[in-house]
Amino acid sequence: MLFIPNSMRLLPILLFLLFLLNACADAALEKSKAHENSINEIIDELSLSECIGQLTLVNSPGNQYDEAFLDEIRKGHIGAILNETNPEIIDVFQQVAINESKHGIPLLVGRDVIHGFKTIFPINLGQAASWNPELIELAAQISAKEANASGVNWTFGPMVDIARDPRWGRIAESFGEDPLLTSILGVSMLKGFQGDSLHSKSYLAACAKHFAAYGAVEGGRDYNTVSVPEFELQNVHFPPFRQLVKHGIASVMTAFNELNGVPASGNHYLLRQSLKENWQFQGFVVSDWASIKEQIQHGTAENEKQAALISLNAGLDMEMASSCYSDYLPLLVKEGKIDEEQIKDAARRVVWVKSKLGLFEKGSSRLSAFTYPVQEHMSVAKDLAIQSMVLLKNEDNTLPLSNRLQKIALIGPMAHDVYEQLGTWIFDGDTSLTITPYSAMKEYLGAHRVNYEKALPTTRSLDQSRFDIAKILAKASDAIVVIVGEESILSGEAHSRAYLGLPGAQEALIRELSRLNLPLVVVVMAGRPLILKNIEAYADAILYAWHPGTMGGPALVDLLFGQASPQGKLTITFPRAEGQIPIYYNHKNTGRPVNEKHHIQLEDIPVRSFQTSLPNTNHYLDIGSLPAYPFGFGLSYTRFEYDKISLRDSLIGMADTVVVMLSVKNVGDRAGVEIVQLYAKDTHASRTRPVMELLDFKRLALEPQEQVYVNFQIPATEFGFYLEDGRRTLEPGSFKLMLGTNSSDVHTTSFTLIP
Ligand code: GLC
Repeated sequence: MLFIPNSMRLLPILLFLLFLLNACADAALEKSKAHENSINEIIDELSLSECIGQLTLVNSPGNQYDEAFLDEIRKGHIGAILNETNPEIIDVFQQVAINESKHGIPLLVGRDVIHGFKTIFPINLGQAASWNPELIELAAQISAKEANASGVNWTFGPMVDIARDPRWGRIAESFGEDPLLTSILGVSMLKGFQGDSLHSKSYLAACAKHFAAYGAVEGGRDYNTVSVPEFELQNVHFPPFRQLVKHGIASVMTAFNELNGVPASGNHYLLRQSLKENWQFQGFVVSDWASIKEQIQHGTAENEKQAALISLNAGLDMEMASSCYSDYLPLLVKEGKIDEEQIKDAARRVVWVKSKLGLFEKGSSRLSAFTYPVQEHMSVAKDLAIQSMVLLKNEDNTLPLSNRLQKIALIGPMAHDVYEQLGTWIFDGDTSLTITPYSAMKEYLGAHRVNYEKALPTTRSLDQSRFDIAKILAKASDAIVVIVGEESILSGEAHSRAYLGLPGAQEALIRELSRLNLPLVVVVMAGRPLILKNIEAYADAILYAWHPGTMGGPALVDLLFGQASPQGKLTITFPRAEGQIPIYYNHKNTGRPVNEKHHIQLEDIPVRSFQTSLPNTNHYLDIGSLPAYPFGFGLSYTRFEYDKISLRDSLIGMADTVVVMLSVKNVGDRAGVEIVQLYAKDTHASRTRPVMELLDFKRLALEPQEQVYVNFQIPATEFGFYLEDGRRTLEPGSFKLMLGTNSSDVHTTSFTLIP
């Protein structure tokens, strides 16, 4: 009998598996080639005007009886529509496109599903504070299902602009100031929309926006000028877009702003060089509303014909809302100024996305309609709202409130407003689903135990006529919860603000209530970091709720009464004054860094001080350089202790992995979630590097007295950075590692990267 050692007996199985793997890879390659060929066949059959039709995204007329509109679809002059969510109307448009046009190419149906569709989740700046990629992905998937059920198959999100300026209204849509966290959470949202890749089971095709550096508008004024050097683009603003392209996002939307003298919608460096050539983006680029035509306003195009020429050459594929392409591309081809192949390539990209999305097979099929409220969706919305809220202050453990308190005074313009708590960009939000703090608190305590008074008609109101009633109700209560902030309209697109304190008479209301010497909890619902210095001292506790969405009420009540423990951590720095902006954690050291002893007070400066008697460092004489609340900050109802930070190796090769370990213990008497943050600093490099950069984080749910040992494993390559031309570099030398509960409270160790 032939003896075959055990290891040899597996050989035939391994060979067969290898054969199978190769066969699958070949099949996938064949399928992909077939797929490409089928698209090329479609494009080759299209006339020039039909190709241009695929590059045309128009606003829905809002009804299915507009014969001129239907005829444009029939002629193949429209490839996509936006802002239609009536399934019956969408069905008519799709049927005409598929059954009555010459080539039967289905339509893309786009909609802004920014932080929910009917069920609204916290604004993205709030979701980010959860530091919970899985939950954000689930919320995006729910949003995608709800939108898909209405016939929408494409959304204009995730928005991954890096935002450092709270004056900018669109900071509400962002994930904050950090490139790594924005990349991780942007990919989570992408997966929620598209799944792990774009395929026929994807609920929505997604769209990374706004490319690029829209968050760096001068003065925080929306649509304003952006000047960002390539080095900062590569290392701050590009990383989230690189990651979304790497994860197969279907489309990218250009930004309204110019970038270094060239509008993003006509910017060859951005679109053709960086996105399509360097990053090998396979999807299509869509303009933001009329941004192709707005090149005339920018002054880089004399007219719509030139705007079309510039944008198409720059690599912009699909035009939203304006008609420069449909009006002038045929003429530009005829004049020989544009190669028809460029138009075919743009059309090919659009048809490729439609094909990957399975539209040729499934047409206008969609998920069956939901009956709202969908309890599972509402439950996720509540969980994400709980995890997004950030506890900024909790003097003498004012929170959680005891539910033995007989009466709670619930005061303020944001305490019971089904619309305002949803925040910006909620085109399809259903206010009938909203549960406000007042409704939730009555449900939890019983109506007789809640003394509610709006006190101000709106957050901007200066009418203090109901303050007396508010104070009477408060005096008859055991504690006061005042809910203030910004109405929805005060943040979002085109809604930048120069003063960032609480609008209207809200600060006065808080001061008045503080005179009653009752426990005073301030809850802020806003679309941006506000400046709280005028009320901070009057509040015993401050809970930042952002615009918490449909389930903001139940989430807030669970936190106020200890059914849940606050776990949110800021992903945006809170300034102490507008004059500090921009202020962010991952800033450069400069040649004259500020340090603790430089935080002098204006009034402490001796009269006739000699000119050089004060520190010559980069700080403000009147407010210092520290923020009100730093990146990563957020309190809990318990406390965590960090200990035993150690490195596995202190000398690291360029291809090695850095392993850093530590213990975290919940030393309080309540369960809690701690978000352990790992930062790094490249102490010396060929370019200036930030004083610290987020490298990784871990969410730890710990029972009272529970201690865990965690380790971070970071490949050495993660300590590199991009040069101006986009090449990645990794330079040997010493690095600091900082671990802690926020960017200002860290434990430090260091290692050396050796060549
Ligand atoms: C808007 C926004 C963009 C949005 C688009 C379609 O102006 O800038 O984010 O997706 O138009 O609504």
